[in-house]
Amino acid sequence: MSPAPQPDVPPSPIRQVGDPVLRTPTTPVSAFDDDLAALVERMWASMHEARGVGLAANQIGVGRSVFVYDVDDAWGVVVNPVLVEVGGERVRDEEGCLSVVGQVFGTPRYERAVVRGQDADGHPVEVHGEGLLARCLQHETDHLAGRLYLDHLSGRDRRAALRAAAEREREASPGSSAFGSR
Ligand code: NI
Repeated sequence: MSPAPQPDVPPSPIRQVGDPVLRTPTTPVSAFDDDLAALVERMWASMHEARGVGLAANQIGVGRSVFVYDVDDAWGVVVNPVLVEVGGERVRDEEGCLSVVGQVFGTPRYERAVVRGQDADGHPVEVHGEGLLARCLQHETDHLAGRLYLDHLSGRDRRAALRAAAEREREASPGSSAFGSR
């Protein structure tokens, strides 16, 4: 399979935990137009710049229901994704997020997942994932619903993650609010 697109557009900053846009459910896309194509290009550039394997639109501040993924040999765009099926055991494995920089926690996810939605042209797509791809599909559909992987952690891990994020925020921008300008 050919590699994922590498559009020559500037990447956008990745929003970090604490930013309300990550907690706001995204709205469905109805226009499969140039604006959507430009958003998808910006998402590819931002995800690759940050060396991620998945990115939801709200992670770059756009509250639309779109994610991109690039896991092992599988990559693609899903617009208006719905997690239609999960299967297998819930496996606790290491998971991280570009919006929770520098941290990884054992997170329970189903071994298999199926997402249904549309591509950037509005054609129906269905993505079947196992293992890491299944984890990614569950993670990205969570993002678009305003959820973070931290929500699946035990209380203690979750508190540790949020504490570390707050700490990093203070170091990065002394004296500013949690949502300080970039
Ligand atoms: Ni994430």
